[in-house]
Amino acid sequence: MENNTTCEASYTLVKEIDDSGVFSLVSKVVEINSNKQYAIKKYIDTYDMCPFAFELECFSLVCPYIVRGKDILEISTKTSETVGIILDLAKGTGKWLVNLPQISWEERRMLLTEAIIALHYLHKCNILHLDVKPDNFLIFQDNDSVYRMKLTDFSLSIQIPRNKKYVPFDRDRIPEAFTPPEFDKKEYNLKHDVWAFGLSLLYMSVSASSFKKKYNKVLHDHDISELIKELCEMNEDKTFVDLIEHILDKNPITRYSMDDVIKHKFTVEGLKSLNYKVAYPISSYEKALESSHNTTQKFHKWCETKGIEQDVLDLASIILSENNTLLEKMFIRKYDEKFKLMMKWAVVLSLSRELIENNVDTGNMISELFTNKRDVDYFSAIILELKLNFICAKYQLVYEGKEQGFLHLDW
Ligand SMILES: Nc1ncnc2c1ncn2[C@@H]1O[C@H](COP(=O)(O)OP(=O)(O)OP(=O)(O)O)[C@@H](O)[C@H]1O
Ligand SMILES: [Mg+2]
Repeated sequence: MENNTTCEASYTLVKEIDDSGVFSLVSKVVEINSNKQYAIKKYIDTYDMCPFAFELECFSLVCPYIVRGKDILEISTKTSETVGIILDLAKGTGKWLVNLPQISWEERRMLLTEAIIALHYLHKCNILHLDVKPDNFLIFQDNDSVYRMKLTDFSLSIQIPRNKKYVPFDRDRIPEAFTPPEFDKKEYNLKHDVWAFGLSLLYMSVSASSFKKKYNKVLHDHDISELIKELCEMNEDKTFVDLIEHILDKNPITRYSMDDVIKHKFTVEGLKSLNYKVAYPISSYEKALESSHNTTQKFHKWCETKGIEQDVLDLASIILSENNTLLEKMFIRKYDEKFKLMMKWAVVLSLSRELIENNVDTGNMISELFTNKRDVDYFSAIILELKLNFICAKYQLVYEGKEQGFLHLDW
């Protein structure tokens, strides 16, 4: 990948697809053995600058309309180590769909129903996407040439804490054009995603050529909020327009939730045509937590002395008790047992905090664990390397379908 011709031994780089991302570079690759084309999403920055475990986790969700990882590659360059996730290669995005002349409203309706299933599933996992826009819906063509839509790009997503209805505002996550009218930079909640989704659905429902014919102007997605009325007027499917009006309700209290959207006539009819039964994620968090208590008592006691937050400690205990074999495999070199235990604890704590606060620097966590400044500097580098080893090994198994991720435990 470094020299832009090969990425690992098993894939050859074909060309870049999108280099406009802040965190990542998406390219087309060919798997040498099968000669099949895939996409690779490679993180640009070093892991401490751009932690991506939460996105890897979302790529492990089990919903047919959410993009799933196929493989994970460790990529070493002269200056840093990063990973690339292999994904099925899409034909285009929701924006591409708008410019696709030959697609009928019937087919478009199916794709929009798939987008609804995806966001509904994500919300059932209590995950806020926060970057819902047409570019983040990918369109695939299956073996029967049928188009399928899937939700992607979870780099700004975050999970709502257990027993809470919102995430406190930390940094700008929602793109400006998709910000709901009530947004006040205090919190993020599910209705924020729903607003952005309404704008995206409406945009993706339009055919650019008919829009041009009717209004004699080009359709731009960035001013879609001003176009709402015209776009609704254009659409002859009144059930769809009714749904959009409920989603794009300026009042967040009466605005539809994804549970309302999934029950609306438009979706119900779409689900029937797709022959799809809505599936819900399974919760086993409480059970996993209970059994982790028996295996990680020493860890619990140590965390108490360090003042670790309860939610971070809980998830870290589960990771620790369920992944010992993989955690052992992080150590390529020989280390003292006591040192290894310390490193395992640091890795699971930092990963747990990262999954809970996606995209927030977890560097200070290390300084909370070690009192001596010299230790902090020395251990931080080792912990980062070990964590990356663990993440790669874990998600390799997850994407092969041999293990589940961590978020499935939550809801
Ligand atoms: N599997 C894929 N197949 C084809 N094209 C893809 C695929 N995944 C992503 N792309 C293209 O690359 C673009 C960027 O991908 P993605 O949204 O995942 O990352 P990003 O927007 O760069 O995100 P980030 O904000 O994380 O940097 C997409 O909008 C799409 O055009
Ligand atoms: Mg994107």
